[in-house]
Amino acid sequence: MSVTPAAALDAFIRGLPKAELHLHIEGTLEPELVFALARRNGMPLAHASVAALRNAYRFSDLQSFLDVYYAGCAVLSKPEDFFDLTMAYLERAHADGVVHAEIFFDPQTHLAHGVPFSDVMAGITDALRQGEREWGLTTRLIMCFLRHLDEAGAHEVLALARPYREQIAAVGLDSAERDHPPAKFARVFAAARALGWPAVAHAGEEGPAAYIWEALRLLSVCRIDHGVACEDDPALMQHLRATRVPLTVCPLSNVSLGVVSDLRHHNLKRLLQYGLCVTVNSDDPAYFGGYIAENYRACAEALDLDREDLLQLARNSIDASFLAAPDKAAWHAQIARYADQPGPACPARRA
Ligand code: HPA
Ligand code: ZN
Repeated sequence: MSVTPAAALDAFIRGLPKAELHLHIEGTLEPELVFALARRNGMPLAHASVAALRNAYRFSDLQSFLDVYYAGCAVLSKPEDFFDLTMAYLERAHADGVVHAEIFFDPQTHLAHGVPFSDVMAGITDALRQGEREWGLTTRLIMCFLRHLDEAGAHEVLALARPYREQIAAVGLDSAERDHPPAKFARVFAAARALGWPAVAHAGEEGPAAYIWEALRLLSVCRIDHGVACEDDPALMQHLRATRVPLTVCPLSNVSLGVVSDLRHHNLKRLLQYGLCVTVNSDDPAYFGGYIAENYRACAEALDLDREDLLQLARNSIDASFLAAPDKAAWHAQIARYADQPGPACPARRA
């Protein structure tokens, strides 16, 4: 049986050991699971069928997506709901060759629905432990503050998180970026830092390059989520290259939300060639048309990435992670072994 170039590319990407660093667990809520959880919890749904709900996943910008995404979260109410959600993601991530995942969660969304912080944590962390037992997939949890809410709310959730210092690896900042600059959260990030938590933040997705500078200078983040607006500022580009501060880029998300008009116009390859530590991630894969392997594959096709580009993206994902140095070295050795295997010479090219 002959192997098509597309199948060879797909196999190469799935076999490539990689880390996923930008993934909202609530964004992995597939329509089928929405219906299953609504049934289990006796909740009514606005859509008549899985197909009708999936059909509503059409977005014009970040806010139009967030409206649908927050509405979907209403079906998550018990620890077992968070467990099932997280297990479903880990299974798909494992199938895509993810060896390590750093996962965002939005506790303020669930608190607003009356779900205790402890229930959210119990469901997610049980699944993370099971995923590591079953597949050896290691994880970190990143607690995000919702930037459309006020800083007082962020301080409240930080207080709730304090007993979970061992289970939560870092804090992050997500939700509606426009008109909610990083500066709004400078004090809560300082408080989190004082408690020992490193920080990341969404910046330069819909917002300007200036928000990336703010996240770096005012929030002291060690990684920028999205960050694709950095190209508008040459001084920022030089700074990101010199410091190797990673960008967790989410290409299919950027197309779905109109950040770029077409994947062929995405700046991922330019940023990579300029020497930035860019990584590829899926963001909210249930909503944006693909998990991480599909993001790699679609970029390989649309941007004509070659085998070395794909290997570099995987190496960057390990470097950009919160893994300890010996674990990073072990994954680099695995990637080097993988690179030495005979494979498609230029997997991205069409036949
Ligand atoms: N951007 C900002 N907030 C989010 C996103 C995103 O892509 N996904 C979930 N929350
Ligand atoms: Zn995101």
